[in-house]
Amino acid sequence: MESLLDGLGSPLHVVLPEIFEENIAALRTTLSDVGVDADILFAKKANKADCYVRSAARLGIGVDVASTPELVGALSGGVPGERIGVSGPEKDDTLHGLAVQQGCLVAVDSLSELRRLAETATRARRQVRVLLRSRVASQLRSRFGMTAEDLHVAIGLCPELAEFVKLCGFSVHLVGYSTSERSTAARELIDHCVDARRRGSPAARLVNIGGGLPVRYVDPGCWDEFNQRNEPAHYHANKEFRDFYPYGGQSATAALREIMTSPADGGQSLAGWAAHHGIRFMVEPGRAALDQAGFTIFRVQQVDDRRDADDYAIVTVAGSSFSVSEQWFNSDYLPDPLLLAGDPAVEEVFPACVAGSTCLENDLVTWRKVGFPRPVRRGDHLVYLNTAGYQMDSNESPFHDAPLPLKVVVRLGTGGSPPRWRLDRIRADTE
Ligand SMILES: Cc1ncc(COP(=O)(O)O)c(C=O)c1O
Repeated sequence: MESLLDGLGSPLHVVLPEIFEENIAALRTTLSDVGVDADILFAKKANKADCYVRSAARLGIGVDVASTPELVGALSGGVPGERIGVSGPEKDDTLHGLAVQQGCLVAVDSLSELRRLAETATRARRQVRVLLRSRVASQLRSRFGMTAEDLHVAIGLCPELAEFVKLCGFSVHLVGYSTSERSTAARELIDHCVDARRRGSPAARLVNIGGGLPVRYVDPGCWDEFNQRNEPAHYHANKEFRDFYPYGGQSATAALREIMTSPADGGQSLAGWAAHHGIRFMVEPGRAALDQAGFTIFRVQQVDDRRDADDYAIVTVAGSSFSVSEQWFNSDYLPDPLLLAGDPAVEEVFPACVAGSTCLENDLVTWRKVGFPRPVRRGDHLVYLNTAGYQMDSNESPFHDAPLPLKVVVRLGTGGSPPRWRLDRIRADTE
């Protein structure tokens, strides 16, 4: 691994499609255990690597995309258009046009988007399959989805547009990881399907509950202890973070089970209530599909030992915090990086934060002072685990004219053969 970093540059993202495939298999098992009919769509925004899309194609699952390049990437990775869902607010006409041509399922976010999409489909003389995205009661302040009034109008419009628009069901965008909020939203969407069928859209049978299946990065006990002891003094420059990802929450499969078995109407579970109404579910895991399916390695470029004055050191790595990104959430990625090498002769806790090598004061890969087990030295390597879901490349930028970090696909050997690697983006015929 270290020679890969030497050859390909720091940081280096290692992506593990076999783990992605295991995660999808676990979600499928959970759905079948609870007796649910559901399509899984991998939310591509969570990682740009091609290998996961190819795995999705191989497994026969779909992909959720939110831009033209993502749609092109899903198609060229071998996922047929009819298994691709197109989400995102007020999508542009180019994305609409390609989605119509390829037979994708489009989640429509507003009345104006519905009208524009209908015009595109009419011009193409093709019928487009749509979901209407609802702004559900629990998140009325969301900037996504249609209000109850607009949804009522849209449901009424669909039969009029039926030659070119086929209403297949409803979707939702929920912030957060509350299983009860998601199951309540699902019940609202089931009601919308029933209403739409009554009002002239007989194909309204899909309920898309979106993503938001959580990932458990650390043991819940460890997470509780962290929260009790957390304080600004534990961070570089006494930085105060108000919000963190719930690193010690439920697993994705436990959350999915809880959603589907939650009580619905008629004394039935959500799964039973959906079956009663002839509803099929869709789930769009991004982060959960990528749990442990990749990690990121940085080379240490410099160690500024301030322990005499400041009680901690600043370890500067080759690369930037754009490669382990929590900036969009104004937060810090909390799992400790692993130190490869370090001075093995010295066993002492070495508190240090980790900085990027840009000239930005705020470029901290880890603001928190990590207790490394040994002093960190120039030339050592730091490994950030479980970075495939959003951390790796959501925010990467060629700042300072730096090339974007490379991704290496590693496949574990079978039957005693060694693991094999290749770059994620090279000739398509090398897999
Ligand atoms: C429409 C849609 N589907 C799926 C996802 C993926 O969510 P997660 O990565 O939490 O599973 C998102 C994330 O924003 C989304 O907007």
